[in-house]
Amino acid sequence: MPSTLTRALADDAATAALGGSLARLLVPGLSIHLSGPLGAGKTTLVRALLRALGERGRVRSPTFTLVEPYSAGGLQLAHLDLYRFDRAAEWDEAGFDEYLGGDTVSLIEWPERAAPGLPPPDLRIDIAIEGEARRATLSSYSVPGDDLLARLTAAPTDGEPGA
Ligand SMILES: Nc1ncnc2c1ncn2[C@@H]1O[C@H](COP(=O)(O)OP(=O)(O)O)[C@@H](O)[C@H]1O
Ligand SMILES: [Mg+2]
Repeated sequence: MPSTLTRALADDAATAALGGSLARLLVPGLSIHLSGPLGAGKTTLVRALLRALGERGRVRSPTFTLVEPYSAGGLQLAHLDLYRFDRAAEWDEAGFDEYLGGDTVSLIEWPERAAPGLPPPDLRIDIAIEGEARRATLSSYSVPGDDLLARLTAAPTDGEPGA
């Protein structure tokens, strides 16, 4: 059973704060899957994470390019969006395995479009839309994922008074 953590995200700022907290807990090679409907805030979360790592350039949604690579905060990262995949086999054809199993931190939106070819992530983040707000459920699937969740639980929440 994966361990899980749920965070209420009242607004964009709360999602950005979660991205900032996650940024500090990343280790090389971590794979993070981001699930949830269009407009849930997956890209918003990744953008905040990259900003927190010091990325100053434009952070575009990889909806059309499929992948946007970054080097920030001493890490190599790849932000992928598989929404436009219409067959799971496209993962292999696209050669995206290069982003897994090495030192690159992979942040993958719409991972279910590449299932079942995609290995399980270290961490899965599900974002649900609840009216104007969002709810994030984080689940770990590996020892590094467990470790990240434990440290996230212990960390103060960014943006809250006294944090
Ligand atoms: N709590 C929230 N967290 C993230 N985005 C939110 C939130 N509330 C409203 N939004 C809005 O929802 C949209 C999320 O867009 P985006 O991050 O591109 O979603 P996705 O990548 O999941 O399709 C943005 O327009 C953002 O302003
Ligand atoms: Mg997106």
